[in-house]
Amino acid sequence: MDSIEQKLKLLQQLREQARMGGGEKRIETQHQKGKYTARERIMRLLDEGSFEEFDMFVTHRQTEFGLDKEVFLSDGVVTGHGTIHGRQVMIFSQDFTVLGGSLGEMFAKKICKIMDYATKVGVPVIGLNDSGGARIQEGVMSLGGYADIFLRNVMASGVVPQISAILGPCAGGAVYSPALTDFTIMTKGTSYMFVTGPKVVKTVTHEDVSVEQLGGADVHATKSGVTHFVAQSEDETFELIRKLITFMPQNNMEEAPIVASNDPVDRVEDDLNYIVPTDPNMPYDMRQVIELVVDNNDFLEVRRQWAANIITGFGRFNGRSVGIVANQPSVLAGVLDNKASRKAGAFVRFCNAFNIPVVTFVDVPGFMPGTVQEYEGIILNGAKLLYAFAECTVPKITIITRKAYGGAYDVMSSKHLRGDLNYAWPTAEIAVMGPSGAVEVLYSKELRALEGEEKAKFIAEKEEEYRVKFANPYNAARAGFIDDVIEPRNTRFRIIRGLESLVGKRDNNPLKKIGLVPL
Ligand code: HXC
Repeated sequence: MDSIEQKLKLLQQLREQARMGGGEKRIETQHQKGKYTARERIMRLLDEGSFEEFDMFVTHRQTEFGLDKEVFLSDGVVTGHGTIHGRQVMIFSQDFTVLGGSLGEMFAKKICKIMDYATKVGVPVIGLNDSGGARIQEGVMSLGGYADIFLRNVMASGVVPQISAILGPCAGGAVYSPALTDFTIMTKGTSYMFVTGPKVVKTVTHEDVSVEQLGGADVHATKSGVTHFVAQSEDETFELIRKLITFMPQNNMEEAPIVASNDPVDRVEDDLNYIVPTDPNMPYDMRQVIELVVDNNDFLEVRRQWAANIITGFGRFNGRSVGIVANQPSVLAGVLDNKASRKAGAFVRFCNAFNIPVVTFVDVPGFMPGTVQEYEGIILNGAKLLYAFAECTVPKITIITRKAYGGAYDVMSSKHLRGDLNYAWPTAEIAVMGPSGAVEVLYSKELRALEGEEKAKFIAEKEEEYRVKFANPYNAARAGFIDDVIEPRNTRFRIIRGLESLVGKRDNNPLKKIGLVPL
């Protein structure tokens, strides 16, 4: 019979074996590619010494295609729990050194176990992805494993925050797990995501395309919008996750933590009084407005490079976490198009799911006209954003800085969609459309009869008349659609007071099985 010392020695040996993953040579190859191993990643992401590992001794149960000779403790994925800034998270980290991080039956079971744990306990799930996809030798067992994970992604959706980092390959159906999570971060140069790789693309569509062009971080940040963030390195990825998670609660029954703020509540920003140009057609940078009002000018922008005509991201007001949505007049005049509507709609839904108040800055000339937009379904996509704001029951504060024209006025968290506090700057223009469009429609008969200078003079006069009558905040304020017209420099203070007044807010939607968001 073995002594306890011998038994402990065996335990240590097995642990050591598990920690070596696919072995020294493959670890070296991983490092040569500029990548950390699965365990190194966990150690860098979590608080020091906080990681508790599950299922270190799990192995696969397959014997086909020589797999009986390729058995690795942990089976290619490291799972468990730990803390970030002292708050608990569940984590899985795919180990590319073991069979290319490919996913088989037991690998999937390990991920499912921590996801079930996370939903049971109510803590976020973080997935670190680096995998060759379905473990080919395990056939349908691996396909089943993926579907088991997808199901859990969906069940956990809106219950606990889910964050995916892509740190290597993520191809085939494997992409759908990150796609179902709330935030995706890709590491530049070492990660890629696509449904089918370059070889299949070549066969089917005859396109010659590199891995980077098809599914690199830049492509998904600028063209597809699949990734919410791009990090320059793995270390930057981990820093970003550690920051991102501070804006969120642990689950849908809690509120985001309040972080002590040393930024004065009553900080006035005189620059804001002059930030909107006198010429209504001149752009300005709405990001500057946001940075001037949030605590310590600290704004974490989400999907920065995609649909830049709308800004989404997290900030704090007197320590309280908020989601910020803002039209960006310096890109496409801040117009709402297909991508912008989807981007903001998805962000508002995340905030609503996790009890994060939404602050909306409005300067929008309307929805983007034209065949491109209509053919891509601006009607349905605009409806997504409208739906998101309308169903949203968290505290909602709206600041109209300049234009709020047409349907876009209604959509952008208006009073009519249950905006709690709707403020306008004196520079606001709230009307059915802008002066030039309005004059063309209202005076079409008169304009047909005029020419040259006479016509130009008539237009200028009528536009001015319209501007005075309609392009201001006071018609809306008279109707009570705007709660107050505020001095821009006081915006921070007014938002903070507003958020404080809304701390006890309770609002409900009618009981239903699900709402039918126009997809
Ligand atoms: C089993 C795999 C594997 C896989 C890689 N490996 N992918 N083993 N199943 N899917 C193994 C390799 O045999 C190798 O083993 C080790 O992992 C490292 O792989 P390399 O090819 O040497 O690495 P690299 O050159 O960096 O190339 C990485 C790669 C490539 C681009 C990911 O391995 C690759 O193309 N793999 C196949 C990808 C794929 O088609 N997967 C299926 C997608 S479809 P050794 O022993 O040499 O270390 C899919 C469906 C999911 O996933 C559906 C869900 C609904």
